[in-house]
Formats: sequence, C-alpha cells, structure tokens
Amino acid sequence: MTAILYLASAVAFIVGLKRLGGPRTARSGNRIAALGMLAAIIITLATQGILNWATVAAGLIVGAVLGAWAAIRVKMTAMPQMVAAFNGFGGIASALVASTEIIDGELTGLAAATVVSILVSIVIGSVTFTGSFIAFGKLQGILPGRPIVYPGQQWVNGIIGVGLIVLAIWSGVTGTEAGYWIVGAVALVIGIISVVPIGGADMPVVISLLNSFSGLAASAAGFVIESNPLIIGGALVGAAGLILTFQMTEAMNRSLGNVLFAGFGSDDSTGGGEFSDKPVKRATPEDVAIALGYAESVMIVPGYGLAVAQAQHAVRELADQLEQAGITVHYAIHPVAGRMPGHMNVLLAEADVPYEQLLDLEQADPLFPTTDVVVIVGANDVVNPSARDDPSSPIYGMPILNVDRAGSVIVVKRSLSPGFAGIDNPLFYMENTMMFFADAKEALESSTSALRSL
Ligand code: TAP
Repeated sequence: MTAILYLASAVAFIVGLKRLGGPRTARSGNRIAALGMLAAIIITLATQGILNWATVAAGLIVGAVLGAWAAIRVKMTAMPQMVAAFNGFGGIASALVASTEIIDGELTGLAAATVVSILVSIVIGSVTFTGSFIAFGKLQGILPGRPIVYPGQQWVNGIIGVGLIVLAIWSGVTGTEAGYWIVGAVALVIGIISVVPIGGADMPVVISLLNSFSGLAASAAGFVIESNPLIIGGALVGAAGLILTFQMTEAMNRSLGNVLFAGFGSDDSTGGGEFSDKPVKRATPEDVAIALGYAESVMIVPGYGLAVAQAQHAVRELADQLEQAGITVHYAIHPVAGRMPGHMNVLLAEADVPYEQLLDLEQADPLFPTTDVVVIVGANDVVNPSARDDPSSPIYGMPILNVDRAGSVIVVKRSLSPGFAGIDNPLFYMENTMMFFADAKEALESSTSALRSL
C-alpha cells in the first residue's frame, strides 16, 4: 500500500511538471505537484518510526511560515534569488540527510553503492549550498555582480576539484569518518570558488544548474536512506533543471562552458547610463499615441525593463485601449527576455493578459513584416539586429525578434545605455525607430492617456 501511494505521488510530480510546460496549465500543475509532495510527506510520517513528533511539527511550522512569507512578500524581480536560496537549502538538506550515515558510524561495512551515494549527496549538496548563496548574494547586491577573476583561477579551481575527488575516493575506500567531513568542507569551498568568477547577470543559468544539482543530491540521499519518492523527485528536479539550463544557454547562443568559465558580463544592467552621440528620433507620448492610433496591428515586446519598472499593468491598460479601438494586439516573448525563464510570462499573467495574445519567438517572427507598430518595453538584447547581421558581435547567432522588419518601432527605455550583453543596439538609430526615453511604467501610462484623448 505504501509503495502504491508513493507511486501515486511520483505520478503527481510528473503530471505536475508536464503541466508547468504551458501558462494555461501551469497553476494546476503546481498544485498537483504540491499535493503529490504533501501526500509523500504524510505517507512517510505515517509509516516511519518517528522518534520525536515535536521536532517534526516544529520543522513543518517553521518551514511553512517562512515559505508562505517568502511567497507573499518577495517581489517578482527578486524571484531568481529566492529560488537560489531554496535550492541552497535543498542541497544542504540532502547533504545533512546523507551525513546521518556518517554520524551513525559503521562506515566500513557499507555496500559500495551506499558509500558512493553518501559521498555524491554530500559533495553535490554542499556545492549547491554555498554556490546558491553566492548566487543569491550577487543577485541581491550583497556581493559584487561582476565576475571576480584572477590569473590561473581555473587551474586553482581544477586542482582543488581533483583533490576533492581523490579525497572522496580515499575516504570511501578506507571508511575514514574524518575524510567524509573534510570532503564536505572542501565541497563547500568549491561551491564558493566556482560561482564567484561568474557575472551577476549569468546567475539565472547558474541557479538553474544548481537547481539541477540540488535534485541530484536529493536523489543520491534517497538511495542512502532507501526512499523511492526522494529518488524519483530528485531525479525529476535534476533532469528538469538540466533541460532548462541548456534551453537558456541555447537561447543565448552560448555554451554552458562559456557561461561557467568565461567570466562574461560586467555588472548586471539596471540601467540609467550614458547617451550615445549618434542621432536618434525622440518620441513624446503624443507621437506614440498617433503612431498607435493609426495602426491596425501592434506587437508589444517586453524585456527586462518591464520587470524593473513593474509596468505589466500599465502595458495591459495600453493594450486594452488599443483593442477597444479595434487594433489587433499581440505580445512577442523571447525565451530569454528578462532575467529568468518565463519572466515575462509570469509578469503578464499577473496583469491577466490573455494567453492567446502571447506569442513565442517562432510564432511572432513571421508576423513582424505585416505588423504596423512594434512597441518595445524595456527590451534591448533580444531585439538587437547585430545578433543577426554582425559576425563580430558578442551576441552574433543569438536568435532575436526581428522587430526592425515591422512598419515602425517604438522603443521605451530610459536612455541609450546597453542591456545585459553590454553592447550598443543599431535598432535605436534606424530610420523607422522612435525612442521614448522614460521609465516604462510612466511612458506607458502617459501614452495611454494621450491615446484616450486623441
Ligand atoms: P536587456 O538587454 O538586459 O535590456 C534591458 C533594458 O531595459 C536596458 O537596456 C534598460 O535600458 C531597460 N530598462 C531598465 N530599467 C528600465 C525601466 N525602469 N524602464 C524602462 N526601461 C528600463 O533585456 P532583454 O532584452 O530582456 O534581454 C535579456 C538579456 O538578459 C539577454 O541578453 C539574455 O541573454 C540575458 N539573460 C536572460 C536570462 C533569462 S533566462 N531570461 C538569463 C540570463 C541572462 P535603460 O537603462 O536605458 O532604461
């Protein structure tokens, strides 16, 4: 009976994950997976010999209160750091569960598979813990966002990594308890030194990879304590995290190795920078209103600036106003717009933008040549034509939204300063582009009222 119930909760995880694949089904997917997890917890509590119910209850209460507080209070723009923190806790929890075997002693008589599982869980869990909190610190602005690099760094990291493997094998073979603890301590150091050289803006990719690691650590811990739901749940997190990591690097046209080892990017772009001296056409709210008022089709392209300005409701109001005037409105969502997977979808869903108006890159791209006006709200790299036209550009080859093929383009951002990739955008100086320099929320609100009074 226990096995069947565990299997049911595993099925709930899989169905939940599958449903997370689309905005329409994501909410129910989340609930189904959460129910599966609740069921797994209840079955475990009911069937295991619990030594101390008070400790279990205290853990549940503290965890539930902190989780609910985080879910309610943490801002949408701070979601990547919250995920990082949760991954970190997941990693260390798995390492601690596996460590109980060390504390229990008897390391010499263990089966080889158990020894490997303990070591894998401790190593990956500890790396995930410190790595995730470095990522958290970088995104939260507690640590500098720029890559911290020095000559020979990769050699030093490599030697420490090889040392860890040798130490882990020796500890496993000899069953030396102290060796296991040192392995854990060195893995904690490796988590720090491997994330420190990565730029703040690459942190979402790192977090996704560490998320995958936290799953693998949990899976390994599941082998140690012979828990099937932990093995299955961990494997699902491990696989999903890895797939997401590769999807992100592919959409940025970079390899995982480049993200992890190239020290890409300086600080995160939160904007407000220099004006280039090339001439641009500046737009006022009235210019925007006129361009939009005479259009038949409008495509809105949101980017990181939409999240910074929290302009999701303002963009929805503008779109509503356009639709009332009989103008067709769509949103083109680039897979790496913003700073985390699905960033734009989540923001637009918060403003109740209808799902059928959201188009992904493949759906939106063929529509640009027949679109009258494109409104770019705080996006930059994802609409940069250099990625298509300039082989010397650092983002050359990254798939972009070809907005320059539309009738006219309105770019809403505060200045000409670059986005995450740190490079200029020829789109801003093109014949059919107008620049509206303002905070996205203010710009959209003023354009909507100008449109109303047309
Ligand atoms: P970016 O290229 O980073 O550009 C964002 C623009 O928003 C900036 O140029 C900035 O210009 C503007 N902005 C900032 N605050 C604003 C505000 N309050 N109002 C109006 N505009 C504001 O963004 P993107 O086009 O979304 O591209 C995302 C980039 O992040 C890509 O290079 C991608 O590879 C990278 N990245 C994405 C992810 C994921 S998973 N999404 C993960 C890692 C890296 P001003 O300062 O002039 O306003």
